[in-house]
Amino acid sequence: MSAERRGDTLCVFINGKKVEVEDADPETMLLSFLRQKLRLTGTKSGCGGGGCGACTVMVSRYQPATKTITHYAVNACLLPLCQLHGAAVTTVEGIGSSTTRVHPVQERIAKAHGSQCGFCTPGMVMATYALLRNKPKPTMDDITLALAGNLCRCTGYRPIVDGCRTFCQQEANCCQVNGGGNCCLNGEKITNEDSKKNPELFNKDEFLPLDPTQELIFPPELILMAETPNAQTLAFYGERMSWLSPASLDELIQLKTKHPKAPLVMGNTNIGPDIKFKGVVHPLVISPSRIKELYEVSRTSQGVWVGAGCTLAELHSLLEKLVSEFPSEKTELFGALIQQLGNLGSQQIRNVATLGGNIASAYPNSDLNPVLAAGSCKVIVISTVGRRELPLNQDFFVGFGKTVLKPEDVVLSVFLPFSRKGEFVRALRQAPRKEVSFATVTTGMRVFFCEGSAAVQEVSIYFGGVAATTVSAAETCKAIAGRLWSEETLGRAYEVLLEEFVLPPSAPGGKVEFRRSLTLSLLFKFYLEVLHKLKEMNVIKEEIPEKLLALPKDIQPTLQEFQAVSKEQSDQDPVGRPMMHRSAISHATGEAVYCDDIPRTEGELFLVLVTSTRAHARITGLDVSEALKLPGVVDVITAKDIPGKKVRLMFGYQEEVLSDGEVSCIGQMVCAVVADSKPHAKRGAAAVKITYEDLPDPIFTLEDAIEKTSLYEPTRFLEMGDVDKAFEEADRVHEAEVRMGGQEHFYMEPQSMLVVPVGEERELNVYVSTQWPALTQEAVAETLGIPSNRVTCHVKRMGGAFGGKVIKTSILASITSVAAWKTNRAVRCVLERGEDMLITGGRHPLLAKYKVGFMNDGRIVAADLSYYANAGCKVDESVLIAEKFLLHMENAYSIPNLRGYAAACRTNLPSNTAFRGFGVPQCLFVIENMVNDVAVLLGRPADQIRETNMYRGPSSTPYKLEFSPDNLLRCWEECKLKSDYSARCKAVDQFNQQNHWKKRGISIIPIKYGIGFAESFLNQAAALVHIYKDGSVLVTHGGTEMGQGIHTKMQQVASRELHIPTTKIYISETSTSTVPNTCPSAASFGTDANGMAVKNACEILYQRLEPIRKKNPKGPWENWIRDAYFEKISLSATGFWRGPDLYMDWDKMEGHPYAYFTFGVCCSEVELDCLVGDYRTLRTDIVFDIGRSLNPSVEIGQIEGAFMQGLGLYTLEELKYSPSGLLYTRGPSQYKIPAVCDMPLQFNVYLLPDTYNPHAIYSSKGIGEPALFLGSSCFFAIKDAVAAARSDSGLVGPFTLDSPATPERACLACATPFTQKIPTSEPGSFRPWALNI
Ligand SMILES: Cc1cc2nc3c(=O)[nH]c(=O)nc-3n(C[C@H](O)[C@H](O)[C@H](O)COP(=O)(O)OP(=O)(O)OC[C@H]3O[C@@H](n4cnc5c(N)ncnc54)[C@H](O)[C@@H]3O)c2cc1C
Ligand code: FES
Ligand code: FES
Repeated sequence: MSAERRGDTLCVFINGKKVEVEDADPETMLLSFLRQKLRLTGTKSGCGGGGCGACTVMVSRYQPATKTITHYAVNACLLPLCQLHGAAVTTVEGIGSSTTRVHPVQERIAKAHGSQCGFCTPGMVMATYALLRNKPKPTMDDITLALAGNLCRCTGYRPIVDGCRTFCQQEANCCQVNGGGNCCLNGEKITNEDSKKNPELFNKDEFLPLDPTQELIFPPELILMAETPNAQTLAFYGERMSWLSPASLDELIQLKTKHPKAPLVMGNTNIGPDIKFKGVVHPLVISPSRIKELYEVSRTSQGVWVGAGCTLAELHSLLEKLVSEFPSEKTELFGALIQQLGNLGSQQIRNVATLGGNIASAYPNSDLNPVLAAGSCKVIVISTVGRRELPLNQDFFVGFGKTVLKPEDVVLSVFLPFSRKGEFVRALRQAPRKEVSFATVTTGMRVFFCEGSAAVQEVSIYFGGVAATTVSAAETCKAIAGRLWSEETLGRAYEVLLEEFVLPPSAPGGKVEFRRSLTLSLLFKFYLEVLHKLKEMNVIKEEIPEKLLALPKDIQPTLQEFQAVSKEQSDQDPVGRPMMHRSAISHATGEAVYCDDIPRTEGELFLVLVTSTRAHARITGLDVSEALKLPGVVDVITAKDIPGKKVRLMFGYQEEVLSDGEVSCIGQMVCAVVADSKPHAKRGAAAVKITYEDLPDPIFTLEDAIEKTSLYEPTRFLEMGDVDKAFEEADRVHEAEVRMGGQEHFYMEPQSMLVVPVGEERELNVYVSTQWPALTQEAVAETLGIPSNRVTCHVKRMGGAFGGKVIKTSILASITSVAAWKTNRAVRCVLERGEDMLITGGRHPLLAKYKVGFMNDGRIVAADLSYYANAGCKVDESVLIAEKFLLHMENAYSIPNLRGYAAACRTNLPSNTAFRGFGVPQCLFVIENMVNDVAVLLGRPADQIRETNMYRGPSSTPYKLEFSPDNLLRCWEECKLKSDYSARCKAVDQFNQQNHWKKRGISIIPIKYGIGFAESFLNQAAALVHIYKDGSVLVTHGGTEMGQGIHTKMQQVASRELHIPTTKIYISETSTSTVPNTCPSAASFGTDANGMAVKNACEILYQRLEPIRKKNPKGPWENWIRDAYFEKISLSATGFWRGPDLYMDWDKMEGHPYAYFTFGVCCSEVELDCLVGDYRTLRTDIVFDIGRSLNPSVEIGQIEGAFMQGLGLYTLEELKYSPSGLLYTRGPSQYKIPAVCDMPLQFNVYLLPDTYNPHAIYSSKGIGEPALFLGSSCFFAIKDAVAAARSDSGLVGPFTLDSPATPERACLACATPFTQKIPTSEPGSFRPWALNI
């Protein structure tokens, strides 16, 4: 097809306005059309592959057959613009704005503190909005289902759910949602006294009512269009792809025969990711969306024919209707499909993905195909040779992504048969995350019994996830058929099943033992379910084993308790009161501007990086000639183009901005292509050819690095007491080792920057998403060889950062600046999720070895710990992180003889960097494991050992820093009380005695976290405050806003000091031109430092106003300012804070590296399904000492968000590398961060009352990082549950469970009869699919 051919005009309504597109390109997705063409930047891009929900919008269509309008949420990143002809799209801008009317959904999410960085918020708003358009009074289930596909990395979801909960029917009559203590939903009465006593985080009485009549109406023009269908083929032609949408089935068949290679684009959820991530190019696609036969549903006496074009959401509704209409014995298959559909993708995916598309895509782990196959379904296929029926069985699925369908075949419809009496169909699956995650193993099973008997007449079992495609367990079925449904039959079946699916140890996807054990345990689950059915039917008379109930999933009301401000505090003073994030409404309306939302300038270019594909090699050639020939490509930037410093030095190690000699990891930046658009730059980057000569012996694993002494210097050592002697004198000594995996920051806004040459005197404006503008400024200036005064960095806000937007961002900005410098044009660089994950590194994986000496009474008398961090190929901040391991190694425990050694290992993996907690989450994990081992060895509860060893009275750390642990102990006692710990431990034991396959575990974990930078010079801050003649105040300070609410808190500080309401105070951005030489917003120190600087500036100004105030004490403020101006009083002041002189002397092994400690304690309880390793956090209670809270809503948000990030770190998130060092997990499809389904079902946070801190502003404490470690309470609760399962199998004593405690690890550690059947492969005897780095 020629790109010059003129296509049809595409007609779509966006937010009620008609948009006609003359040149619609089939490769354009709705997301880029909205953001780039229409400048509707409220809809965000977080992953581009349907996995994060940031791009959620609502699509509405008129259905002429039923004369109804349907509204549904979709991922704009996967929806081709061409698919939208005749549809209406509503984006976050279309439902409300701060200039017109904020929509109730926007208002409630904002006011309930549901936004921190705000990047996910428009997606959350639109997912909720689409739900409410269909169901204005939803249930909690509806809400969690609607939000299941929307990721948030900041909030921990609780406040979002609480905001949405206010729309629930049940909620309307509920006494309270938060802050009130008891709740009617818990069956507890709340008194008026209670509600007065406890302040609340938000007041729902303020909320606007939801009024469906105020919504945009569906455009009548589109109704008319749908009622008068166009009989012509619609055609759209783009640069590389053409799109044909036939009007009739005949035409579709002809087209498909003529162009057999052209795929049918339906939901585009398979084709779209293939194009985007695998670089597949389709010159032509055919869209059959207008073919009504593909959507027809018809019933017969045998079952139901469902059009292959029906979406999975439509199929779900249809099946639910059928289940309600027919007797249950006829709808067994439908029930199984409903079960599977509930877990397949997100609501946004199910709203567009089609039944036919799922079948034809033939994923190895398709959830539908095993059920359809086991359920004896069939399809009608049509082509020019006619129609034929094909059974969906083992002959249909022939290989990876392949079926028996011929290229010209169209699947017309799918037959779903009714089940018969005595027939049972089930669908079971296990996935890395409970929701919105492709399954690890998925299965459909059907059994049919002879009437009135337990003898099996027919059985059919299919699995996904154990081979290249859906496979039949035919041999296993033979072993079951004709026999009684009994343990004996199943016992034989397991043996056959094991032999039937022998996955080689290096099978793609890994998890070989787990997958094999899942086939057995899922079959066992099916066996038990059917057994109970047979018992219910009286076919079986004898006693049968326990029924397996699903894990609980109902989210309960939550509690956030904090101290009210004193009665004496003036009403106008906002310090200590919950105050909404100052940008929350802008987040929720999509008005908040992130780096990539800045409008394009004339001639702007886009930069895409070219990265190394070898882990350790010499570059022998770089050929950019093909790239330069491509349309739109302007230049290729290499190291040679760098006018200034080509390398940066850290700890004496070099880090090249762009490599031109050697590469030391896959993902190292080699050069960059700049072009007139992102697609052109991407194509240019793909055309760059690099040749390499491999260098020997790349190092990937920690073991390898230790063996080869591949370490970054200095390594650190810290010792106190006489450790060796103490080991000799200890009653018992125990040694072990434990590993902890790394973590991807997964900030929702990927790395983004825009560099704009000003055009004179070598000046540049750098708009960048960074935590440290001053470092970026310095790096850019050095790279370009110009003074810093020519470079201005602007940071409006970040869509999350978590430590990942410091060092790496400065390098990326330097490269982008070189491109802007060379081309003298504005250059934008926004990494895609996959590039970001590949290039920028994350938290350091850790291997730790420990030896502990303890007395029989539980006292730990000696410990010797060694920590090895996988730092990757560049030093970055790894040495400082290794230091943190030692500075925190004892956590909350006083261990008289203690020794630690820490090293950052150099490997050929992408370089790791700072991440919230900066090494502390790793080392605390080690000590808590050690304490747990002691408890197990002594046969005592772990909390008792913790209590026995906890710091008490005036205390001193191993590096001789004196402190008081009183508040730690208060948190501990309070947490035990609030969580009802003792009673719940007993209940857990009782549960475990009564349940064999499900176990509960509980743990209570303390934290002592040092605040401040040990590098003294970083403990400083500055601010600049201007008061304008109209009385409005502009505050700037060195802190950057990344969701932690620093600007909100600074506004509160300025408000208190200037005695004016926060509405008069504005913070626009952080900029190196207003506040120079700033420190990074990191180490939980931003508020402490910048708060003091803002306070200082405001005090100066208020002081200057004193004569005016005295003259006219009543003011008002505006008059004072006017008078001051006329009196020639300066209304601008800088504030400065010279922080404490913190230090650590490693030679003397003593120091004062922290200003003070923040304390907290967390209790979590989980329920674990031992058969498959799935778990649910039933309840979490956190008590935190954060001094006098500056803003309880912001700070509770930090605690909850950090906890959830920790929960992800310790139980869910897994980075996987290939044996050649390539990161496999480069997006939300492979890397699972916590979603709504991971929220503790009951999530309570209490701020410790009556605590003071003389070392920080207004007696507050730093809170950004500490709570992350508390997520480990879920890990230790899982370990506790696993221990209970092991003890049922007769296994007692300490055991190793590495972090994260994924379902795979937890299940295998449970050592069930099923996991024990799986032979393990000898390490070293095969090349594993993934490395244990
Ligand atoms: C984020 C995400 C999560 C997901 N999670 C899951 C999950 O948990 N479980 C699961 O099973 N799946 C999952 N999927 C896969 C999803 O279900 C499939 O991609 C979807 O069903 C394919 O349907 P589609 O309409 O989007 O197909 P398209 O992408 O439009 O087409 C896919 C292929 O099917 C062919 N095709 C489509 N219709 C027909 C037809 N009528 N006749 C012949 N060929 C046809 C096309 O030619 C094309 O080759 C997920 C996908 C995403 C993006
Ligand atoms: S950007 Fe569309 S789902 Fe992530
Ligand atoms: S507020 Fe949800 S990702 Fe930041």
